[in-house]
Amino acid sequence: MTDIPTTNPTPPILSTVGIGMRFGGLTALDDVSLDVPAASIVGLVGPNGAGKSTLFNVMSGYLRPTSGTVLIDGVEQTRRSTPQHRAHMGIARTFQHPELFSDLTIREHVTIARRMRLTPRRLWSDVLTGAGLRRNTQPDDEVTEQLLVDLSLSEDADRIATGLPLGVARRVEVARALATDPRVVLLDEPSSGLDEGETAELSEVLVSARERHSVALVLVEHDVDLVLGMSDTVYVLDFGKLIARGAPEMVRSDPAVRAAYLGDDPVAGTAHPAPEPAGTSR
Ligand SMILES: Nc1ncnc2c1ncn2[C@@H]1O[C@H](COP(=O)(O)OP(=O)(O)OP(=O)(O)O)[C@@H](O)[C@H]1O
Ligand SMILES: [Mg+2]
Repeated sequence: MTDIPTTNPTPPILSTVGIGMRFGGLTALDDVSLDVPAASIVGLVGPNGAGKSTLFNVMSGYLRPTSGTVLIDGVEQTRRSTPQHRAHMGIARTFQHPELFSDLTIREHVTIARRMRLTPRRLWSDVLTGAGLRRNTQPDDEVTEQLLVDLSLSEDADRIATGLPLGVARRVEVARALATDPRVVLLDEPSSGLDEGETAELSEVLVSARERHSVALVLVEHDVDLVLGMSDTVYVLDFGKLIARGAPEMVRSDPAVRAAYLGDDPVAGTAHPAPEPAGTSR
């Protein structure tokens, strides 16, 4: 693997070390190590089926890896951690295919995500003692309303999720991930289904979330220019293996990356466009 060290002295919040993931005879991930330093933007790119969503599932506790470890703040979480536990430790995510509750409005999605950041014990004690009814929810409501504004969702806030256009559903997913006060957000193709203007708006919101709340972002995208433009460090996966890691411009010019992912044309010396998203797995 081409490994071009970047100069980020901050210790990582989230790390994977030597992750392997097999599905029957298929090796989806092979010895994948990745660091997410605080308040950084980490890009993760690779062709269809390279293992990007699988790595997100491992990092967010939806899948137990076949080998390797997941660390949060340097402490191993690999086997004892559920998605809920990871969320309470500050790891939020969005899905490649948005998963919204059909009967809830957009505002309700964000409000519930905001409440979910409380520990389960606190949620239960609120329910059992009625404290949840007496508690002043105004500060939380203000955060929710600001997120709805930030993600251009205010006008649609009372619409139920059924039948929402994909671009709107993606923004709801991002709003509810940010509502949990995360330290890291894993974003699986957040711009897919968004038009150019919506994509520009979304990247502005993400960059400002990083600046205002020191949130680290891990960005999986087929829009390579978007990833290279936003990221501090980029990792490139190919057939489950990391083939490069480094600063965006170094990665862009790496011969292995150009050959494997950008489809370097040896005759014309130009890169083909990145493949369209086609995966059906989460
Ligand atoms: N639950 C599963 N069971 C079996 N195979 C799986 C499962 N999830 C993923 N795979 C396989 O693992 C490989 C990596 O899939 P993954 O969805 O992680 O790729 P990806 O990089 O996210 O691709 P895309 O860009 O299309 O979203 C693929 O060959 C896929 O078919
Ligand atoms: Mg995927």
